[in-house]
Amino acid sequence: MFSIPHLDLPPLVGAAGTVKLPGSKSISNRVLLLAGLSAGTTAVHDLLDSDDTAVMLAALEQLGCKLVRRLQDGREVLDVTGIGGVLNTGPRTLQLFLGNAGTAMRPLTAALAVLSTLQGGDFELSGVPRMHERPIGDLVDALRGLGCAIDDLGQPGYPPLRLRGQPGGAMNLQQPVRVRGDVSSQFLTALLLALPLASATQDVVIEVEGELISKPYIDITLALLQRFGIAVKRDGWQRFTIAQGSAYTSPGSIHVEGDASSASYFVALGAIAATDAPIRIEGVGADSIQGDIRFVEAAQAMGAQVQSGPGWLEVRRGAWPLRAIDLNCNHIPDAAMTLAVMALYAQGTTRLTDIGSWRVKETDRISAMVTELRKLGATVDEGPDWIAVTPPAARAWQHASIHTYDDHRMAMCLSLAAFNPLAGAQPSVGVRIEDPRCVGKTFPDYFEALFALSHARAEYIPVIAIDGPSSSGKGTLAARVAAALGWHYLDSGVLYRAVGVAAQARGLLPADVQAPIGDDLQRDIATLAAALDIRFAGDRVWMDGVDQTDLVRHEASGALASRVSALPAVRAALHQRQLNFRTVPGLVADGRDMGTVVFPDAALKVFLTADAATRAERRHKQLISNGISANIDSLRLDLEARDLRDRTRAVAPLKPAEGAVMFDNSGTSIEESVQQVLQWWEHRRA
Ligand code: DC
Repeated sequence: MFSIPHLDLPPLVGAAGTVKLPGSKSISNRVLLLAGLSAGTTAVHDLLDSDDTAVMLAALEQLGCKLVRRLQDGREVLDVTGIGGVLNTGPRTLQLFLGNAGTAMRPLTAALAVLSTLQGGDFELSGVPRMHERPIGDLVDALRGLGCAIDDLGQPGYPPLRLRGQPGGAMNLQQPVRVRGDVSSQFLTALLLALPLASATQDVVIEVEGELISKPYIDITLALLQRFGIAVKRDGWQRFTIAQGSAYTSPGSIHVEGDASSASYFVALGAIAATDAPIRIEGVGADSIQGDIRFVEAAQAMGAQVQSGPGWLEVRRGAWPLRAIDLNCNHIPDAAMTLAVMALYAQGTTRLTDIGSWRVKETDRISAMVTELRKLGATVDEGPDWIAVTPPAARAWQHASIHTYDDHRMAMCLSLAAFNPLAGAQPSVGVRIEDPRCVGKTFPDYFEALFALSHARAEYIPVIAIDGPSSSGKGTLAARVAAALGWHYLDSGVLYRAVGVAAQARGLLPADVQAPIGDDLQRDIATLAAALDIRFAGDRVWMDGVDQTDLVRHEASGALASRVSALPAVRAALHQRQLNFRTVPGLVADGRDMGTVVFPDAALKVFLTADAATRAERRHKQLISNGISANIDSLRLDLEARDLRDRTRAVAPLKPAEGAVMFDNSGTSIEESVQQVLQWWEHRRA
């Protein structure tokens, strides 16, 4: 993923295509805990790979679970061998760090409180500062009522916590366990997941005090307990009974559904921007066990057209502008944030109510949403447990730098504000997302997925052009700058090299390097250049379905490229192919004429040079490290001959573009060069 402190989204005008969702966070962490408490091995398929699952995995490993990653049919599977409900396999004095993962902190607190009380142990559970502001007192009170010894290590009612007990301890289960249900359903989930550990000699009854919120998450908990052999008897939403002798039994293998909350961004994307082809979402569908799937109904009420089947959804724009709604969102607390941003595209005021739980999530989400939507120009009101959003007038949209509060959902939701041209924004505005890496909590590749589906008008997609002579280091520099910015990268030299190689293979180049290339041959080579099947995958180059990276990068291919690149028809044939690389969110292109001919409107142009000796030395090192032997003197002669030809040819000769920054990097390390270009770009942007 990119390494910059913020991501600039250009104004976006449409979207289409398919997205494969990452695994559900809620299901992943429940499955991991259940597999960790079971005896035997559970093969977990399609597990979410994110910050929140990483802390759960680390905790399980500390407790003595065995984790083995392997590949099955090309996909990663995690084998979890659990402790079978017994602590004796692992150490009993542990400090567990759980980041900002509520889905790890709450259930592990319950499970380890029960285990330490019955079997002895001493556990400290802590997280990031925000975790220490997220309430857990109701759960702690319920566990203390059962006889668990729990110390507050910070502010009472909040992590960090210490859980301790002696072997052979007992729990107090004659009375039902009482827990509040109106702050977070995670307290009840935690007890449901953990209390089978205490059911050896009697039924365990849990009673909920107050109106239970987020009931669909309890459904997920019950469905997964069932998969692990534990049937919980439910009386309404007030009373839950775990039968005496319940024991976690591994299902052997389990598949994690795609994340329905993550699906909400793409459902919204379809409703806002899929005017031609739909957005197809793979990983969740009509058969989902996740409550947030009901976001689909809310999106439909706003205008989305949705089709669904098992494991998939297809969404396109229906009503436009969207319809404002007034909705109680208790059943979809997380996905409801996405409605607040869809409201920017609705006619009238959208009111979302019964969302008090937003205030105790990764951040105070009501207050965060109000602040950020106002920055964009919207009119927003709030109450203790509601928010009302009226979109900006066409001329009132503002460019905003969106603060994300270390909250993945703030980053993902607000990115959808970049489609403001579709709301008629005049002028349309870009959106800056601060700290974009916070999406790593549940969806590390969110922005890559969004960009793959979205398009913008070319003039809004920024280009950095880096031109210069052979072996000036522009390829390495451009690739590194692109990676840092999270942009696409075009190595235009590779296109010419591929054409040179293919022309040679088809006998279209005269054997005599000095011989002129006749008109017919020129035409044939240009036809070849337009049709050639070239694909880039990371740093590999595929031609006609074969990985030809080594051949294309070879010195001899550079010489062939230099010959074909002097032909005007070849340059014309490759022109459009190069323009096609200009896709959201931006492009870094290197070559000879990126700034002069192909992207004359590039926002930043760099002309990179280095003295001939340095370039020959760099090229020499590069070849040697690739196992290709080379002579430094003949390399230098070759480079100079190639430069002369590139500089003196009639079409698109190598020369600095107008307005290019001249950069001699003979004495500069690659890291310094990257930082230099990023600095110039930041300056231009500002
Ligand atoms: O950068 P490189 O060594 O991969 O380039 C190979 C040849 O292709 C080089 O001799 C010049 C030509 N080329 C070009 O004419 N225009 C470009 N934009 C890129 C490369």
